[in-house]
Amino acid sequence: MENLITLGEFVIQNQHHYPGATGELSQIFGAIKLASKLVHREINKAGIADIVGYAGQDNIQGERQQKLDVYANEKFKAALSARGLVCGLASEEEESFIEFNQPLHKGSKYIVLIDPVDGSSNIDVNVAVGTIFSIYRRISPADSPVQLADFLQRGTEQVAAGYVIFGSSTMLVYTTGSGVNGFTFDPSIGVYYLSHRSMRIPEKGKIYSVNEGNYVHFPEGVKHYIKYCQEHDPETDRPYTSRYIGSLVADFHRNLLKGGIFIYPSYAGNPSGKLRLLYECNPIAFLMEQAGGVASDGRKRILDIEPKELHQRTPFFVGSREMVVKAEEFMLD
Ligand code: AHG
Ligand code: MN
Ligand code: MN
Repeated sequence: MENLITLGEFVIQNQHHYPGATGELSQIFGAIKLASKLVHREINKAGIADIVGYAGQDNIQGERQQKLDVYANEKFKAALSARGLVCGLASEEEESFIEFNQPLHKGSKYIVLIDPVDGSSNIDVNVAVGTIFSIYRRISPADSPVQLADFLQRGTEQVAAGYVIFGSSTMLVYTTGSGVNGFTFDPSIGVYYLSHRSMRIPEKGKIYSVNEGNYVHFPEGVKHYIKYCQEHDPETDRPYTSRYIGSLVADFHRNLLKGGIFIYPSYAGNPSGKLRLLYECNPIAFLMEQAGGVASDGRKRILDIEPKELHQRTPFFVGSREMVVKAEEFMLD
């Protein structure tokens, strides 16, 4: 028998998992769902947009085409501020955090951090991109303006985190700290269905994902680990296979389903690597741990890092437990 359940229903059914839940989080998910559907629509007409004008150019009606990052940022902001539950947002696309400051937001408890389009270099070439989000309870008093400190909480404080992957189908994957569940979008009726219940990453995998073009700039430990992945050793099923899309969300999603490790290490001149702690690594690390995997900066747990600034970067090692633990061993040398 078919067992259909929608994302909206699932969130409501499971809201007892988070302390003090009053249905607010399900409304925040409502906002994320709505904005993601708008982005889905926009991404899927990217080919048509090419006919009527490239992003940044005028289209046939003389209107300026918005870049997808800007479009997505605006839609998530608009949807999240409209419900009065989120008092502030920080986005990879904005220099500073934004305070939602209307009577509607008085007393609202949550803040959201977002990477509206992750993997944006892949937009124009029909390759999967995503949106990453992270939700925290504010720590400043509800009747005061939202503060930087509200956004600089450790990843362990996340109330919920997730991503939307705009791939061959669109999926939303999220956690509130009691497992990870995935929902597949049916665009014909505009509904996300539960398709992947209680997702778990295999303890070990065969996939390593790293931009090997930067090999010469990597720390010695990472170079040695890459060589380890490439060695012939039937006992441990090596060599592993290399897969790298260049969209963190897409690389992560594949490794979550199949087992694997994703690495974006520090590289020459960039001791903190490229990926952003607050918009990318913390939410992905929360999901990974909830799915049974590990997320570290090569030495310590990502979720324990004390953020110092909004756009802070960190080296990132995430994936199947055995693989990340092994990679960390190489970092000790
Ligand atoms: P964004 O599009 O949000 O700036 O993120 C791009 C990130 C991430 O998605 C991906 O894993 C990484 O950049 C790829 O970087 P390289 O091209 O340096 O490999
Ligand atoms: Mn990104
Ligand atoms: Mn981005």
